[in-house]
Amino acid sequence: NHILVLNGPNLSRLGKREPGVYGSRTLMDINSSLAAVFPKIGFQFVQSEYEGKLIEALFQAEDQPEMKGTVLNAGALTHYSIALRDAIKAISKPVVEVHLSNIYAREEFRRKSVISEVCLGVISGFGEEGYHFAVEALLSNLSE
Ligand code: DQA
Repeated sequence: NHILVLNGPNLSRLGKREPGVYGSRTLMDINSSLAAVFPKIGFQFVQSEYEGKLIEALFQAEDQPEMKGTVLNAGALTHYSIALRDAIKAISKPVVEVHLSNIYAREEFRRKSVISEVCLGVISGFGEEGYHFAVEALLSNLSE
């Protein structure tokens, strides 16, 4: 089983970026801990600051038979990218939406996600562990 772990804009700065909100672990730390906790999964890790790159990564995953689904932290694109939403809707493999922070406990503009409706589900507010929960959720969905 292969899973795409897709991170959007500004998540490359984890560890340095607002550690009070996003924690002190880097994206590399988070990705290595996923690989350590789920040794049987073949992860593909992609991060981009660009909307179009995220969309391309979703389509590539869709076209690779061994790829079973995606864990997606779209960063701020979550709140306004109709293009990303349409891309998720255009594919058949499941996407789990993840946020390190609890987007419902912050600024008003973060309370709305335009992608939640087309995702399998949402995990928000559990920090790094949220990525682990998202992988569990994908695996449990796949085994159904
Ligand atoms: C985030 C929440 C978004 O509102 C924000 O723009 C991010 C990170 C999170 O992981 O908590 O970049 O997706």
